[in-house]
Amino acid sequence: MCGIVGIIEKNSSVSPLIHEALKRLEYRGYDSAGIATIHQNSICIKKDKGKIDEIHQKLDLDSLPGRIGIGHTRWATHGLPSKINAHPHLDCTKKIAVVHNGIIENFLELREDLERRHRFESETDTEVIPHLIEEIILKTRCDLYTATRKALQKIRGTYAIVVIYVEEPNVLVCARNESPLVIGIGKNANYCASDITALLPFTKKIALLNDGEIAAINYDKIHVETINGEVVVKPEIYDISWSPEMAQKGGYPHFMLKEIHEQPHALTGTLLIRPEIIDQVARALNDSKKLYITAAGTSNHAGLAGKYMFSKLSALQSQAIISSEFQESTTNLIDQDTTILAISQSGETADTLNAVRFAKNNGAKIISVTNVMGSTISRLSDLTLYTQAGPEIGVAATKTFIVQLASLALISLQIAEIRGVLESREVDQLREGLMQTPKIVEKTLKKEESLVRDIAYEYAYKPNFLFLGRGISTTTAMEGSLKLKEIAYIHSEAYPAGESKHGPIALIEPGFPVVFITPPDETHEKIIGNIMEVKARGAKIISIAEQNDHDIKKLSDKIISIPPTPTPFSPITYIVPLQLLAYYIATKRGFDPDKPRNLAKSVTVL
Ligand code: F6R
Repeated sequence: MCGIVGIIEKNSSVSPLIHEALKRLEYRGYDSAGIATIHQNSICIKKDKGKIDEIHQKLDLDSLPGRIGIGHTRWATHGLPSKINAHPHLDCTKKIAVVHNGIIENFLELREDLERRHRFESETDTEVIPHLIEEIILKTRCDLYTATRKALQKIRGTYAIVVIYVEEPNVLVCARNESPLVIGIGKNANYCASDITALLPFTKKIALLNDGEIAAINYDKIHVETINGEVVVKPEIYDISWSPEMAQKGGYPHFMLKEIHEQPHALTGTLLIRPEIIDQVARALNDSKKLYITAAGTSNHAGLAGKYMFSKLSALQSQAIISSEFQESTTNLIDQDTTILAISQSGETADTLNAVRFAKNNGAKIISVTNVMGSTISRLSDLTLYTQAGPEIGVAATKTFIVQLASLALISLQIAEIRGVLESREVDQLREGLMQTPKIVEKTLKKEESLVRDIAYEYAYKPNFLFLGRGISTTTAMEGSLKLKEIAYIHSEAYPAGESKHGPIALIEPGFPVVFITPPDETHEKIIGNIMEVKARGAKIISIAEQNDHDIKKLSDKIISIPPTPTPFSPITYIVPLQLLAYYIATKRGFDPDKPRNLAKSVTVL
């Protein structure tokens, strides 16, 4: 995944700024990092294995001189995390430096050829880029911009890159193809980075670069063209409303905890999305002859919950397919009568973008739900609904999940109204109930957090967990289980509770923790039976139930109470204790929940 940044300033030194931007990008990868600047006719470079703070302590990243520079924080793909494999990478003359996010698919053949004339230092795919550029400049005596363009024409794969060259110390060259990159416009300074949050301390004016575009960035101007066609492009410019503080911890020990506590606010903002937009999306979905929902990870769980809401509230048929399996599952099924509802908080997940591109190429209409303005998914879509969670930095998705659910709830109610499935009175009542969810989440956080922490500490060293729910609560179970797995590294499985007797129940032995999600909906009676089945085999029962649910209380070893929530919207409120459970187990075990091992926030590889 990796985070990249480039900064050019008229007057001051850029390394402290690049360092700051890299800290904000660290969620994208944190196994190594580096910065390169140009000063007195040479490249100055510091890079190493480890997290940025560790590297800074060792090398003092801010001391690099120069008014132009690039930086990188890495999530390894080609080559182990090491100093040598850390970016930036240089050419043989040590005059060209490159940072890259993405994967160069034909790097082996390029490298084989280049190795006859160039000396490679790392195992990365990236290193072919500086050597290619070096060779083109040497052969054709062209400038960096032209050489980079020509080099990129030889490259297949995904990339966002930034390049600097000692002989041209007044220009950053950057380009993108299927990896995110935005340009920031400042005063006597310009910037580029993998995402907007990295640039928030410097500017809120953002120019969007499209796939297949290359830019030359000076401190006072920006020039954009297509990589292949040499067509000059006027980039769209956005004023971003996010503040730099929104991307800081604000007194919390971790971004994840801060973001869990921001959920009432994020929900309120999302529930206030303009009704015209909800109506537009609802009508587009209602008009579809075939509707597929696609997403990855946590967003996929929101999509699955959306499928339940569409069926239950709107009588609208849809199929939810995980993005990485989308193409294979829908071969010969996508055509002009198809609508895709693609959900991605970042809008940059390669699997989801791949599914969207595949569907689009087959004539489908694309509707997206994303949290990031101008993200790739929004640019591939016919219509986009922006959730209002603000920047999410913790690698584990929390607040973006519940705003996705809230958006889907709003859409499903609107479809119900359009189709006349529910009476206006019923729709109004449900809407009213939905509007209460920020308060319910707030109350739950206030009243239940210390109980959840105690439970987490008691169960922190159990090697396995099972999460069970029925109906829409199956999706809550799946999300709770994913949270625990990804940040606390505990093996856990989620199942529809009714299915547990077909296999998973064999795992149960005395003391095995099973988390039940038991809102008082039409599944309630049946799930009581499922609780009894595992209880009879010695399981420890942790339930998330509506307050005053005495039946569930009697059967549970631990019970976490949620104020009444309109039942089809229960995932919005019932997920909150499960997020806290994972958080407190992870921290009790000494793990950093903001930077779980092997993961990165924005997964831009297939
Ligand atoms: C889990 C998590 C991931 C993402 C997934 C999709 O906590 O964050 O599973 O949900 O990588 O990301 P987006 O929503 O950006 O497409």
